Amino acid sequence: MRIDIITCLPELFDGPINQSIVKRAQHKSLVEIVIHNLRDYSTLKHKNVDDYAFGGGAGMVLMVEPIDKCISALKAERNYDEVIYLTPDGETLNQGIANQLSLNQNLIMLCGHYKGVDQRVRDYLITKEISIGDYVLSGGELAAMVLADALIRLVPGVLNDESSALTDSFQDNLLAPPVYTRPANYKGWNVPDVLTSGHEANIEKWRHDQAVKRTEERRPDLLK
Ligand code: ADE
Repeated sequence: MRIDIITCLPELFDGPINQSIVKRAQHKSLVEIVIHNLRDYSTLKHKNVDDYAFGGGAGMVLMVEPIDKCISALKAERNYDEVIYLTPDGETLNQGIANQLSLNQNLIMLCGHYKGVDQRVRDYLITKEISIGDYVLSGGELAAMVLADALIRLVPGVLNDESSALTDSFQDNLLAPPVYTRPANYKGWNVPDVLTSGHEANIEKWRHDQAVKRTEERRPDLLK
């Protein structure tokens, strides 16, 4: 999978994409993440990428031209499955959407800033709009990182234990059951006996029952 991220704050990505699972996925050549500085596509003297909104009002708007130039340059190199704009008024991300998007080969993610982007970008260039939740961030960068992370861990071969993404919370509309590790007894705080019994069928049943219980208690909406 290749993810091209378009942003006016490329430095923000230095940390997150060079750590942990995302770093390993890139080392294994399973995933390629390329960050593009929108300013590099500005034709203006001071490399501006935003301007005042027509009709007035507070806040700057990202201009259509640099975004179009950047996306066109990328599209000239390869075909893209989706051009995603991260925005609080997009479709709210969930595990089902992440699963679907993780099947794609090439994705562009556009990070908005200030008051957002010129509506013509959304009308003519964007194929999907995603929100990561009902709250407003100061830009789309953190949202793009969240989306990229959710997708990358689903790419086959990225996680060491192939089955572990399948047992994540939300994969079957259930939250994940509790997990424990050694020691089995710490200060009298004991691990449930069934988990140390070695009886696989009982362990499976316990995990499923716990997942249902947790979901009923915390997220009954998922069971509907
Ligand atoms: N940009 C600002 N807020 C956002 C959100 N909640 N989701 C996606 N992009 C955003």
